[in-house]
Amino acid sequence: MSVQVAVIPVAGRGTRLLPLTKCQPKEMLPLGRKPTVQHVVEELTASGIREMLFVTGPGKTAIENHFDIDVELIEHLRVTGKEDLLAELDFEREEIDYFYTRQRRQLGLGHAILCARPFVGDRPFLVALGDSLIGLNHESDVCRRMIDCFEETAADAVIAFQEVPRDEVEQYGIALPKGEAGDIFDLDDLIEKPSRDEAPSNLAVAARYVCRPSIFQELSQTQPGKGGEIQLTDAFRHVLAQGGRIVGLRLRPGEKRYDVGNFESYFNAFLECALADPEYGDQLRESLRKLL
Ligand code: G1P
Repeated sequence: MSVQVAVIPVAGRGTRLLPLTKCQPKEMLPLGRKPTVQHVVEELTASGIREMLFVTGPGKTAIENHFDIDVELIEHLRVTGKEDLLAELDFEREEIDYFYTRQRRQLGLGHAILCARPFVGDRPFLVALGDSLIGLNHESDVCRRMIDCFEETAADAVIAFQEVPRDEVEQYGIALPKGEAGDIFDLDDLIEKPSRDEAPSNLAVAARYVCRPSIFQELSQTQPGKGGEIQLTDAFRHVLAQGGRIVGLRLRPGEKRYDVGNFESYFNAFLECALADPEYGDQLRESLRKLL
């Protein structure tokens, strides 16, 4: 398999979720019974990736603790006769290698990815934003499809896209497809958070990218863009301007992106996750029916 490593940026301060995120990373907020970032890791492992590099920042140590093997807790559950709960910690024993590096200055998503350079080296890699997941209960194989597409097209990058309502385009990187955009399409351009009038389409970057290591060189030369931050989108834009090939892959109908970027999206994501829970979903649906 060509892509074996995922870079998971989790350095953002989560200011849109204050006060919730004052002392805890937004990536640790629960979606149903698990923290968001555990869902993301499970989505990635379901696609065959076993090497995860988190790009962290201030106040994010809870993420590292979460993926550690907690021998004391296991022992405590055993001696207190709570063996039935041990299954909840099975994820700790997955054969996954976790690595962590710090983004020492908050200079944007592009800069966070650049922090992965010494670790990733000359390997292709997948980027999965740590505050977003695709599909519930690992039902999405979008990362697998992106890797397959990357191998088949030999493109410089493959990016996942979702259609968004026109009045939401300014929250996303937006594609200008070459011609009619099918399920897989070539990009002509990519614009970070355009206004509604500037937006060339309603196809929005959906938090998953497959990149060649050459993107690091682009990022090292990318100047601050939207919001004064070094944008990953701008590095891709430069690749396109130089005649490179970037392929977009649409999420399938029903394949949704959930994120914990703001309260509106977080509340919706939590509810959908809880409703999809095999054990508690039906009970919650019933309570909501009564409530509404
Ligand atoms: C980032 C990217 C943007 C993308 C979005 C969702 O923005 O810069 O291009 O569409 O993630 O994947 P953020 O939400 O971090 O501001």
